[in-house]
Amino acid sequence: MNPAPTVADRDPGPPGLAARVPWWRRPWIVPLWAVTAIFIVWRVPDYLGFTPEKSLVALRSHEHYLVMSAHVALGTVALVCCCLQMWPWLRRNRPRAHRISGRIYVAAVIPGSLLALATSVQSMVPVPGRIGNVMLSLLWLGTTLVGFRMARRRRFAEHRRWMIRSFALCFSIVVNRLWTALWFAVLMPFYPAVDVAFWMDVAVASIWSSLLVNVLLAEWWIERTSRPRRPTGPRRDTPVP
Ligand code: HEM
Repeated sequence: MNPAPTVADRDPGPPGLAARVPWWRRPWIVPLWAVTAIFIVWRVPDYLGFTPEKSLVALRSHEHYLVMSAHVALGTVALVCCCLQMWPWLRRNRPRAHRISGRIYVAAVIPGSLLALATSVQSMVPVPGRIGNVMLSLLWLGTTLVGFRMARRRRFAEHRRWMIRSFALCFSIVVNRLWTALWFAVLMPFYPAVDVAFWMDVAVASIWSSLLVNVLLAEWWIERTSRPRRPTGPRRDTPVP
């Protein structure tokens, strides 16, 4: 026999019904937007201005540059939508805007993740790094599609979980640049020179660090926010009437 559903199993309902939480309990929103804005202003213009000579990525052909540019353009749309989707004020006060930016996010991720896949296969980084990026592209696509499907079925608790995973994967590309700086500093003393071999190892370490740490953080966050906030609230094992 199935156990009686508990308060913790209850679906939170559609966006807009979320409880009000003071801003200081969400200190990550402003740093998240700041880091994203810096990434976009710093990295994106070089790929959207038809200036292949500015590309940091070693390009195989003109077509490769076009794929990269489309990848960066769609990735930018996805990142901006991610920031909007994670903004609790928007979810609570503008549920229609939340729905629209959510749809734009999904519409950007479907082609964006496939272009990320193409970019990952063409990349010059060593095979372990390419495997990491291929996994990232496929997981990004999969989690987004499942999250979207859950929203369509009005299973909002599951929608939230899958979208947190999708956003964590999307943002791994931003934190990847922070990991690159860290691995650069950590590995440099062990290499005779800062040459191509060194940079390739830094790239592989950064790809896997950003992917794995973000996946683990997302699972930790899902678990943490699934627990009831106040001990004075109804117990998790209280049967739903
Ligand atoms: C989440 C899945 C993603 C994957 C698997 C992925 C993969 C890649 C790969 C393989 C490269 C080329 C690296 C090389 O060949 O050395 C690249 C470059 C790039 N990607 Fe993505 N990407 C993803 C998401 C994004 C997003 C969301 C953005 C946001 C704008 C983005 C922006 C860029 C930029 C700007 C570059 C050029 C490298 C640079 O100048 O920093 N990517 N990406």
